[in-house]
Amino acid sequence: MTSHPRILAPGLQDRIMTAAQAAALIAPGTTIGMSGFTGAGYPKAVPTALAARIEAEHAAGHPFKVSIWTGASTSPELDGAMAKVDGIEMRLPYQSDPTCREYINAGRLEYMDIHLSHVAQHAWFGFLGKLDVALVEVTAINADGSLVPSTSVGNNKTWLDLADKVIIEVNSGMDARLAGMHDVYYGTALPPHRKPVPILETRDRIGDSFLRCDPSKIIAIVHTDEPDRGINFTAPDATSEAIAGHILEFLAHEVKRGRLPPSLLPIQSGVGNVSNAVMAGLDAGPFEGLTAFTEVIQDGMLQLLRSGKMVHASATALSLSREGQKILLDDLDYYRERILLRTQEISNHPEVVRRLGIIAINGMIEADIYGNVNSTHIRGSAIMNGIGGSGDFARNGYLSFFVTPSVTKDGTSRIVPMATHVDHTEHDVQVLVTEQGLADLRGLSPKQRSAVIIERCAHPDLRPALHGYVEEAMRNPRGRHTPHVLEKAFTFLNDWKA
Ligand code: COA
Repeated sequence: MTSHPRILAPGLQDRIMTAAQAAALIAPGTTIGMSGFTGAGYPKAVPTALAARIEAEHAAGHPFKVSIWTGASTSPELDGAMAKVDGIEMRLPYQSDPTCREYINAGRLEYMDIHLSHVAQHAWFGFLGKLDVALVEVTAINADGSLVPSTSVGNNKTWLDLADKVIIEVNSGMDARLAGMHDVYYGTALPPHRKPVPILETRDRIGDSFLRCDPSKIIAIVHTDEPDRGINFTAPDATSEAIAGHILEFLAHEVKRGRLPPSLLPIQSGVGNVSNAVMAGLDAGPFEGLTAFTEVIQDGMLQLLRSGKMVHASATALSLSREGQKILLDDLDYYRERILLRTQEISNHPEVVRRLGIIAINGMIEADIYGNVNSTHIRGSAIMNGIGGSGDFARNGYLSFFVTPSVTKDGTSRIVPMATHVDHTEHDVQVLVTEQGLADLRGLSPKQRSAVIIERCAHPDLRPALHGYVEEAMRNPRGRHTPHVLEKAFTFLNDWKA
């Protein structure tokens, strides 16, 4: 029996074991709810040990797969390692690991991509089947048995409540001072007993600082000591700066017209370099007293909090680069006053998103000339990542932006006649932005939208072909509401290059 300074609850010391011993407690066919959201707070040791065990079982001719539910994307040591050994039966929700993606697209593992705000409730409704084991990273186990979350909260509350058995990874590499940054809401109930979620401002604390867990369910506690993998951000390039510039100009215009207050409304910003460029633009821009109600806090948002341009941010994960992690830890007391990490059913809650009036800014794969957006599939069939929280925010937000470069690396248009897959319909998309310009679609009919999208967002070399498509489609006298020439709708895939 080993003692551990971060495991204060009595009676748990005898459950401390190695990752391999914990992995040995997981049977083939198990469904595991793992922590982890956008590369933050994922278990660091047991998934790797489980992958090694599965590989050994396969070598011995024994079939062995598990299903994995998470908050969102995790790390190569989790999704990548488990996919590589053919160890995943079903994976949900959002993932972004290259190996996992390759296996999904090769048909070697099943992937279910659902809105991030839906995951917990669908698990509670019983729509997803039974959850056997929760595998959750924490910073510490308190004397009363409550758990201090680490850098993400995600679906951990739900996994701990629903699973029959719990495996905890206690990560000493996580700063103990993270305690107090979390807000775990225990007021959710199932219909017809639901009550309003009482968040009126981004900074409203409505839950506990800690996760609850029935100690009798804990079958293993594994010690780890590693930071999150750290996200790589590239410096904003000309394209992302141009996109950010169009958004900032538009927001300033909306303030001038009285449609937004000078401090704007709470911002939700998707993952990636364009988002970081928008945050950098906001940092240099005129808006003061900003807030965020979003999923992930990335480096750009941390800088906004540092500079004081942003006064508060609510999210479910700290998805930072190594440099960003250091900045956070160097001044953790300052950031703890300004950041709340909630469960993802609350960080992305449609009711709260609608009430607060979120400005949602998300990336996309392509948009069509009528404003339908594809966030997830290359050429309609191959998954890239997943819908993530983009639908939670886009449909319910005050303003919904989708952003992309106008063309792919090989010059194919990302403004297309008909989206090859639709995640966000024309009804949920208000503003499209490329480096070429910004299309404000509010109050426009489909035909009007097509003119604005082509002129403002498409690459200039491809505008004649797109206009020509609409002109040809308009020759059909009975199809002039959303004009299409179905037999030519996808020819752009091969024929049109900027
Ligand atoms: N045809 C072919 N390839 C395409 C393509 C298209 N129409 N559109 C994108 N791609 C490829 C890019 O070439 C790139 O490939 P690479 O990784 O080999 O370089 C890759 O897809 C990603 O595209 P890029 O433009 O670099 O994307 P990004 O980093 O800005 O991400 C999304 C864009 C849509 C993939 C990303 O925003 C996403 O996953 N969104 C859905 C989830 C979401 O919105 N989450 C936020 C809510 S909080």
